[in-house]
Amino acid sequence: MAIVGAGPAGLTLAQLLHAHGVESVVLEARSRDYVERRLRAGVLEQGTVDLLRELGVSARMDAEAIEHGGIHLQFAGDRHHVPMRELTGRGITIWGQTEVVKDLIAARLEAGLPLHFEVQDVTVHDVESERPRVRYRHAGADHELECDAIAGCDGSHGVCRPSLPAGALREFSREYPYGWLGILAEVEPSIDELVYAHHARGFALLSLRSPTLSRYYVQVAHDEDVANWPDERIWEELQARTALAGWTLREGPILEKGVTGMRSFVVEPMQHGRLFLAGDAAHIVPPTGAKGLNLAISDVAILGEALVALCRDGDATALTSYSARALRRVWRAEHFSWWMTSMLHRPPDGDPFEERLQLAQLRYVTSSDAAATSLAENYVGLPWG
Ligand code: FAD
Ligand code: DHB
Repeated sequence: MAIVGAGPAGLTLAQLLHAHGVESVVLEARSRDYVERRLRAGVLEQGTVDLLRELGVSARMDAEAIEHGGIHLQFAGDRHHVPMRELTGRGITIWGQTEVVKDLIAARLEAGLPLHFEVQDVTVHDVESERPRVRYRHAGADHELECDAIAGCDGSHGVCRPSLPAGALREFSREYPYGWLGILAEVEPSIDELVYAHHARGFALLSLRSPTLSRYYVQVAHDEDVANWPDERIWEELQARTALAGWTLREGPILEKGVTGMRSFVVEPMQHGRLFLAGDAAHIVPPTGAKGLNLAISDVAILGEALVALCRDGDATALTSYSARALRRVWRAEHFSWWMTSMLHRPPDGDPFEERLQLAQLRYVTSSDAAATSLAENYVGLPWG
């Protein structure tokens, strides 16, 4: 197996294949240091946690991650708790994507298995045959890898998807006029569970990484220049958008900040010949539902099982249903992420009709057990199948 990309999808797939005796080579364009520092998601569904445990890469997560049984939705000056564990029997785990990636890289390298960083000029060939090939340049030499299948786990700007013939895939997408400015701050989190705040000045999200690290976000324009946001302005907006009587948001040094634009995107099918797309290479969700990382992991759980059947038993039937199985989950997450995004963000023109609809929906999900359960079961993650 050739795996392009050492993000959560590629690394988890490599670990899963190794656990079943299937050989793979992982090719990554960036350096190890860059991949391990890339600050992104932080909410893991139970299915993701279970798979990382099964794969033997959970020791640090089990010791340090923080379990949450609910989230808060804040709007119209009040904070409302959605008791997800009570409603669904499941909770979420707060554990940074950077930490997941670090542990997967360490496991692979400790086992002495091939994972090449700073690989250049990756190209894929003969994907319509049963022996596709990947060419790449590494450490000054050209290489060619012949394999049973290629996993395109190279994210939204990778090479695998664009290298497929025109018309092979159908694309579905939606752009949003929103972006998130995210910060990592060296300060004790001011919250016990995540706060998603609807506010006339725009959405804000309070999350965390550890007892000493807070992860906070504010809604900005999709193409906002981070240079327009000195630290004081970020704190001012966070304070205004999350203010609550009797509660204070603690401030501290900002260690990192960055802007992410928001987009929904899916390709169908997630496969062409022996090239299989997984994670952000096949789909993108706006981050409001905390689904991006979890979808990447559930894709490769399905794909890994099918590839093991091919490589170990010579049975390609499971691979033929990979795309359809994964897409069912992907579209549910696409809908949930779009819905959460639409309910919580201030439209650019502040349309008052839209605002009243958002508030009506927020009141509904915080007052009806049926509506709260629907939000909760999607947020904690529907069973994998
Ligand atoms: P990636 O993590 O993107 O990994 C793909 C890998 O492929 C990368 O390491 C890349 O360097 C490598 N690659 C690319 N091109 C090549 C090539 N030509 N050759 C070799 N390797 C290549 N989700 C949330 O739920 N919450 C968040 O707060 C959140 N924040 C995000 C912030 C940013 C800036 C981004 C981009 C995404 C964010 N996401 C978030 C989404 C989540 O992080 C992704 O869904 C997740 O990283 C997907 O994992 P992946 O392995 O599919 O892709
Ligand atoms: C985080 C990111 C999200 O997209 C989200 O919905 C919740 C939390 C985080 O980075 O902690």
